[in-house]
Amino acid sequence: PGDQAEFDLKRHIREVPDFPKPGILFYDISTLLRNADAWQVATGRIARVVAGWQPDLLAGIESRGFLTAAPLAQRLGLGFVMLRKPGKLPGETISLSYGLEYGQDTLHIQADAIRPGQRVVVLDDLLATGGTLAASVALLRKAGAEVVGCSVMIELEGLGGRDRLDVPLHTLMHYP
Ligand code: PRP
Ligand code: MG
Repeated sequence: PGDQAEFDLKRHIREVPDFPKPGILFYDISTLLRNADAWQVATGRIARVVAGWQPDLLAGIESRGFLTAAPLAQRLGLGFVMLRKPGKLPGETISLSYGLEYGQDTLHIQADAIRPGQRVVVLDDLLATGGTLAASVALLRKAGAEVVGCSVMIELEGLGGRDRLDVPLHTLMHYP
């Protein structure tokens, strides 16, 4: 399918009402991932933007961020680094805790994952409040990275997540 501008990716996102909780409209990427043409177009578009930032490494946020970060790193000939939830990474790690709507969460990176000053792009599936992505940027900086951009497939604009980021943000699909 190439990456023709008219290809409508949103047609492949399933909107699931009341998931995971009543009142929440869930944008499900599963239906996009399982369609070969849509998945090709999506990764192609992300690749073009990410390559323009000239990163040395790509970082993916567990778990759905891994879906784009790992294949994209392969496609661009770059290494891939995992940002993981607690208790998953062996060896010395650097961590950062961040607030959620209820409670808090923590992300870890292996302490030797980044060489000082390496240019890193962070990938995730979706930006909502921006808490996860902002924490990931801060964690990568703590680990020595120069974060040169972020890319998500879906941006929920109403939650103001974009305003919590101080690096360029690329999004494939926007929703209110
Ligand atoms: C979801 C989503 C993003 C994050 C966005 O991940 O995949 O990572 O929430 O929310 P925020 O912008 O408000 O921080 P989740 O924690 O549900 O885990 P998963 O990726 O492992 O499914
Ligand atoms: Mg996630």
